[in-house]
Amino acid sequence: MTHRHLSRGEFLALSGLLAGSSFLSHTAAAAPNKPPPASGSAGARGAKPGPAKPERAQCERLMWQCRASLTQGATEDLSTELIRIGEWLGRQGIAADMYGYGEFIQSFERNIAERLGFEEGCFMPTGTMAQLCALRVYADESTNRIVGVHPSSHHVLHEDDSYSVLHGLRAEMLAPWSRPLLARDVKNAQERPGVVSVELPVRWLGGQLQTWEQLEELKRTCRELGVKFHMDGARLWECQPFYNRSYADICRGFDSVYVSLYKTVGAIGGAVLVGGRNFIKEARLWRHRHGGNLFQMLPYVASAAMRLEEALARLPGDVQRAKSLSEGLAADSRLTVLPRPVQTSMFHVFFRGEPAALVKQRDRIAREQGLWVADEFNDTRVPGVVEVELQTGKGFENVDIKDAVRAFLSLLEPA
Ligand SMILES: Cc1ncc(COP(=O)(O)O)c(C=O)c1O
Repeated sequence: MTHRHLSRGEFLALSGLLAGSSFLSHTAAAAPNKPPPASGSAGARGAKPGPAKPERAQCERLMWQCRASLTQGATEDLSTELIRIGEWLGRQGIAADMYGYGEFIQSFERNIAERLGFEEGCFMPTGTMAQLCALRVYADESTNRIVGVHPSSHHVLHEDDSYSVLHGLRAEMLAPWSRPLLARDVKNAQERPGVVSVELPVRWLGGQLQTWEQLEELKRTCRELGVKFHMDGARLWECQPFYNRSYADICRGFDSVYVSLYKTVGAIGGAVLVGGRNFIKEARLWRHRHGGNLFQMLPYVASAAMRLEEALARLPGDVQRAKSLSEGLAADSRLTVLPRPVQTSMFHVFFRGEPAALVKQRDRIAREQGLWVADEFNDTRVPGVVEVELQTGKGFENVDIKDAVRAFLSLLEPA
């Protein structure tokens, strides 16, 4: 199949088992026979906006009442978090920032940049904005407006075409949906992109990663072809145990990296973009042009800074627990786990079910067993089969894996 000749919507509709069918309604050229949108969303960290407000709020209340979550959903409500931030700032003697200027925020930006092996970093209100700024800087530098991506990339699926609407960029889908992007995809690109944006790990493949050798070859290929290489590191923190190398080693060879402050770290929001000094100078300009210069950035940065070390220290254990949980679930022949073995603290599970009925079951399990077992039940390209994203995180370390497996399997019981 020569997927590059298909429209984006057609490509998404045709490219494999998962094929993001729940997202087709968001794409410009959605396939005519698209399935109905998935129902039920807890609005957990990293999940996409779900159902209308009353249902969603109810859902979140139920999730917060649970003793633990299999989805790394928010475990604290915002009022508790804001009090913690205020107390933490008070203890540090930090009073305020103005448009992100001030020693505290700048040293946090430096901290992230140095950790990832780059010259400078810039706080961004969202990862979406961080990456748009990065792509725009590269496009203007080279006049090449083609961005090479994986078809499941956040740019393509979840940003309402902002790369093209705001910046006149064009996405070229380089790889098939079913595997991470590789060096040969860049070499064989129909049109050479100015930049390749690679998601590490690939969320819609259950957190799959290139092997270390594949990643190194990809870096080398981009360098040799003069293609800028950007990392969508929304979940970069979770890759470290798989590669068993420092963050700086993993990032070496990328021109820029974005990391999320709310996924895995658990802050209230925000992101950091890192790169070379001139690149970050330009990116700051684009943050401003995007309307991203918040008058006070301190609450976001403090929320991340006060938990960063603890979150990173927890990760090897999280990945281990994801392995145990995924293998426990895979032992039931009604469930299919992707990938096996899991590579990060996240993975996806596929099984037969009807989303509305599953939402009811999920809520019953939350009330009766105190475990939050799923956020959304996304339709897949296989009629009657749904997809769920699971992730082990804070709070899950106190859960017996057998209890977690039992709770998840209760989803399959008759209502
Ligand atoms: C892979 C990936 N990239 C980028 C983003 C964008 O992050 P933000 O929500 O901060 O805009 C997300 C968010 O879900 C993501 O999953």
